[in-house]
Amino acid sequence: MSNTDSSCRIRLLRDDVARKIAAGEVIDRPFSVVRELMDNAIDAGAGSIKVDLKNGGIGSIRVSDNGSGMNADDLALCYQAHATSKIESVEDLYRTTSLGFRGEALGSIGACAKLSVSSSTGEEGHRLLVENGEMLSLEPYRSSIGTTVEATDIFYNLPGRRRFLKSAKAEGGLCRAVFLEKAAAFPEIAFQLLTEGQVKLTLPAGSLTERVSSAYPSVFTPSLTESFSGSHREFSFTLVHASPAVYRRTDATFMYTSIKGAFRSTP
Ligand SMILES: Nc1ncnc2c1ncn2[C@@H]1O[C@H](COP(=O)(O)OP(=O)(O)OP(=O)(O)O)[C@@H](O)[C@H]1O
Ligand SMILES: [Mg+2]
Repeated sequence: MSNTDSSCRIRLLRDDVARKIAAGEVIDRPFSVVRELMDNAIDAGAGSIKVDLKNGGIGSIRVSDNGSGMNADDLALCYQAHATSKIESVEDLYRTTSLGFRGEALGSIGACAKLSVSSSTGEEGHRLLVENGEMLSLEPYRSSIGTTVEATDIFYNLPGRRRFLKSAKAEGGLCRAVFLEKAAAFPEIAFQLLTEGQVKLTLPAGSLTERVSSAYPSVFTPSLTESFSGSHREFSFTLVHASPAVYRRTDATFMYTSIKGAFRSTP
């Protein structure tokens, strides 16, 4: 029976409609874009990651890294649904150590924002432009090794979602919180946060304790910050905490847990 048969109430959604709805599952606010792009930069092995926000991330979010980069063939695929270099088989799901693996993030961002990805692996660089989930162009572009992804005008084509965005200040605050959570978990990577082109935070690579105290200086002043580590079989942990001299009414705001590693079947 055809999908347009008048007795049939159920229709298969058009591809572009389905893609936009699916994109909303991955990207529901500007901070989701920050999270996904930072994850990609970390997965690319970057030693330095810069996040630049305009208008609280509603105007644009640009994440630049000096990671592995992508060549033109990778760029032609990276924004498509289910396109990933991180897994191939179901078994890989049990041993992956990357932050991403769904092959959904860039596709979702490309479906709900104007997307630009410029990248180089050391050879000639290229830039990909995507709008409404479709490639507009893929051309040679001067680029140093690494990747810069820019998402502009978030939800420009989804007015319903755009209406539900909060003020630029509130959305920017949420983006900053995600930036800090990611940066706190990866102290071996240098991070920088800019808003409206001005540097707001510079976090040099260092130890976990140094990172926590530079990311949250109002709570974790270096002299009042303590840490201890332990391990058991394949599991190890580091706990960074403020000394009891630091008292806050809203303690839960500063409780973060980051778990890294892979599931491994024990022999
Ligand atoms: N900053 C980057 N540097 C190098 N390669 C990148 C970068 N960002 C994306 N890629 C490549 O593009 C692919 C698609 O990225 P995307 O974020 O859509 O999916 P993913 O990271 O594989 O999975 P997930 O949807 O869970 O994030 C990645 O698998 C990776 O190969
Ligand atoms: Mg990803």
